[in-house]
Amino acid sequence: MRTYLVTGGAGFIGSNYIHYMFRKYGDEIKIINVDALTYAGNLENLKSIEGKQNYSFIKADICDKEAIREIFAKNDIDRVVHFAAESHVDRSIKNPEVFVRTNVLGTAVMLNCAKEAWELPDGTYKEDKKFLHVSTDEVYGSLEEDGGYFYETTPYAPHSPYSASKASSDMLVRSYMDTYHFPANITNCSNNYGPYQFPEKFIPLVINNALQGKKLPVYGDGKNVRDWLYVEDHAKAIDMVQEKGRLFETYNIGGHNEKQNIEILHIILDTLQEMLADDDPRKKLATEELITYVEDRKGHDRRYAIAPDKIKAEIGWEPETMFKEGIRRTIKWYFENEEWMKNATSGDYQKYYAEMYNAKSE
Ligand code: NAD
Ligand code: TYD
Repeated sequence: MRTYLVTGGAGFIGSNYIHYMFRKYGDEIKIINVDALTYAGNLENLKSIEGKQNYSFIKADICDKEAIREIFAKNDIDRVVHFAAESHVDRSIKNPEVFVRTNVLGTAVMLNCAKEAWELPDGTYKEDKKFLHVSTDEVYGSLEEDGGYFYETTPYAPHSPYSASKASSDMLVRSYMDTYHFPANITNCSNNYGPYQFPEKFIPLVINNALQGKKLPVYGDGKNVRDWLYVEDHAKAIDMVQEKGRLFETYNIGGHNEKQNIEILHIILDTLQEMLADDDPRKKLATEELITYVEDRKGHDRRYAIAPDKIKAEIGWEPETMFKEGIRRTIKWYFENEEWMKNATSGDYQKYYAEMYNAKSE
């Protein structure tokens, strides 16, 4: 039985990945989820699988070398899938240091512990051991509005402390592959959306605010472009890269679904109008009047767009969920999980929201 060590599995993409893997492989695999449970980590995301024999959770910080080393010593890990990170650009602008600590130092610890556990005395590695580092398209910087795509060969040009810390972590993984022939892959993915996404990110924030008749904050002119991918398609791509990809390679993952933020907002509002029953009081709340242009994000990247040609040609992966379908599924999930949203937005979230948005001028 193959054993996976998943870091950051209590977060948005990590928890979707774990669900995907159990749906796909059932009891053929074992998953150990290591997560520090920061504000972004939520064990509710994994409630339906927490009693499974072949799943276990360990609360640990990836910067804690001893804790990570012990996990490798006690378990014969075959695959590492490394999601754990600080992931929100706005937070990185306010408080960059924690991004360097978790994203750079944490990745160094993960690499070192895996290398230590997998390396043989002659410098080769135990058979079929693989490390996958989950990264972002934001490392490539920003594209012009009217053209171009990010390829695996695009030079790194990060702008935010978040993307700079992710770029640094990618460089560390590359250095391990080049220096030690360490068996790894890197994936750089575009913006994800779907169930379990924490409502500090644009799409769940808009859905949550619209349903409560709260303002929908649009940064700048609302014309920044992101390439949105349904999270399950990302989970599938990660698995396919690890099983079918060439070791030491980087693969870009994207949805071919570029949209301006303002378009996303209109699609969400239209979809809410379609999905809410006529007598649902929220139908009258979720209207365009809520759209509020606010001060722009500092250093706001204008456009991201991935060319997923390599992963398609080499591995046969393509996005399967069209945005119209994905956003309906996402909204349906938030409808059915009001309690999850209530818990996620209680306590610290209120403080975060006030600090982040009350200071922004309209
Ligand atoms: P998230 O913020 O929802 O989850 C991050 C998880 O990591 C949380 O469960 C958190 O508790 C955990 N974590 C944070 N610091 C930790 C530490 N020191 N030790 C152990 N665990 C820690 O993030 P996400 O959106 O699920 O992103 C996951 C990964 O995918 C990140 O590496 C991110 O850079 C990358 N990524 C995200 C997107 C996106 O659109 N969300 C797109 C491309 C790549
Ligand atoms: P976000 O979900 O934070 O992802 P990222 O910055 O990593 O792409 O933001 C997506 C886009 O939405 C980005 O261009 C910033 C914009 N945005 C807003 O306009 N208002 C908001 O309240 C948030 C959180 C984001």
